[in-house]
Amino acid sequence: MEDFFTLRTVKWKKGAVLMIDQTRLPERISYIKCRTSGEVVKAIKDMVVRGAPAIGVAAAMGLALVAYRSKVKRKEGLLKELESASVKLGNTRPTAVNLMWALSKTLEAARESSGDVEAVKESVIQTAVRMADEDVAANLRIGEYGASLISDGDTILTHCNAGALATVGYGTALAPIRTAVKQGKRISVLADETRPRLQGAKLTAFELSNDKIPVKVITDGMAGYVMAKGLVQKVIVGADRVVRDGVFNKIGTYSLAIAARYHRIPFYVAAPISTFDPLNSSSTVKIEERNSREVTHISNIRICPRNVDVINPAFDLTPLSLVDAIITDKGLLNYPDQDNVVRLARADTA
Ligand code: MRU
Repeated sequence: MEDFFTLRTVKWKKGAVLMIDQTRLPERISYIKCRTSGEVVKAIKDMVVRGAPAIGVAAAMGLALVAYRSKVKRKEGLLKELESASVKLGNTRPTAVNLMWALSKTLEAARESSGDVEAVKESVIQTAVRMADEDVAANLRIGEYGASLISDGDTILTHCNAGALATVGYGTALAPIRTAVKQGKRISVLADETRPRLQGAKLTAFELSNDKIPVKVITDGMAGYVMAKGLVQKVIVGADRVVRDGVFNKIGTYSLAIAARYHRIPFYVAAPISTFDPLNSSSTVKIEERNSREVTHISNIRICPRNVDVINPAFDLTPLSLVDAIITDKGLLNYPDQDNVVRLARADTA
C-alpha cells in the first residue's frame, strides 16, 4: 500500500467522501464511500473515521455533501439544510473541538457567500476541500517544528494514534517523528496499545511499520517500567482539545504525563491551532463516555464477569504544568500556561 507520508485518510471525490475504514485495520485496508451527511454522522459515531483533525474535516465534508445534493432554489433554504446537518454532525463526538471548529468555519463560509444558491454550494464544497489540504500543510509544519526537539537515536513513546490516520494526512504526534526520519535521524517508537479501543496497537503500529519506522507495542501499564529503565527519551502525544488550563487527549495521557515528569522525560503535545479552544477552561468540556462493552469485551469476547460495572471515559485532562511544550503549526509553545495558550490562539484569529 501507499506510505503514510503521503496517504490521505479522508478525501472528497466527485460528490462523495472517501474514508479509510479504521475499524477494519490492520487486518483489512478498505475504504467507505459516504454520499450523504447522515452516512458521515454514522462513520464518525462508529469510529470508521476518528482522531480530532480527521473528524473535523469529515464533518466539513458532510456539509459539502448537503450542499452538493441540495435541490433548494434559494440561499435561505440551503442555509437551513446546512444548519440542521451541522447540529447532527456536531453531536457525534463531544470532546474533540476540531469538529465544532470545522463546522462553524464551513457554515461561516456559506453565510458569507454573497452569490446565489449555486455560489453558496460551491463555497461550502471548496471550504471543506481546502480544509483538508490545510490540515496536511499544518501537520507538515508541526513536523518541522517538532523535529527540532528530536535527537538522532531517540526512542519516543506515543499514545493512541495521532498519526496520518487521525488527520487528513501526515499526523500530529507522528509528524515530528516522520520529519526527523526524513532528516536522516534514527528514531524508534514505543506505541502504547491504548485500551480500550487499541488505537496504538492497531493503528500507530500499522502506520509506522508500513513506513518502516521501527516500532514496538507495549501495554499501557508498561509505560512507567520503560521510562524507569531509561528506554524512552521523549513522549509525544496528540490532543483533542487544548483549553486554557490543560490538554484533553485519549484516556491514559494524564498518567503518562505524570510518569514522564517523575522520570524527567520531556512530555510534548502536538496539535494544530484548530485544536485550541482558548475561550474554555477544562470544567466546561464534556468528556465522552463510551459504551461499556469496549471495556468488558476484547474483539467481541467477554473478559469481565457479567454483572460487573465499568466506567469508560474516552479522554482525560492533562494540566498544562505537566506539558513541556505544545508543538503547533505556528511554532513551539514552550512551558505552556493560560496566558501564552490564549495569546497564541488569539494571534491566529487576529
Ligand atoms: O477516540 P479517538 O481515536 O478519536 O481519539 C484520538 C485521540 O485521542 C488522538 O490522540 C487525538 O484525536 C489527536 S489526533 C491527531
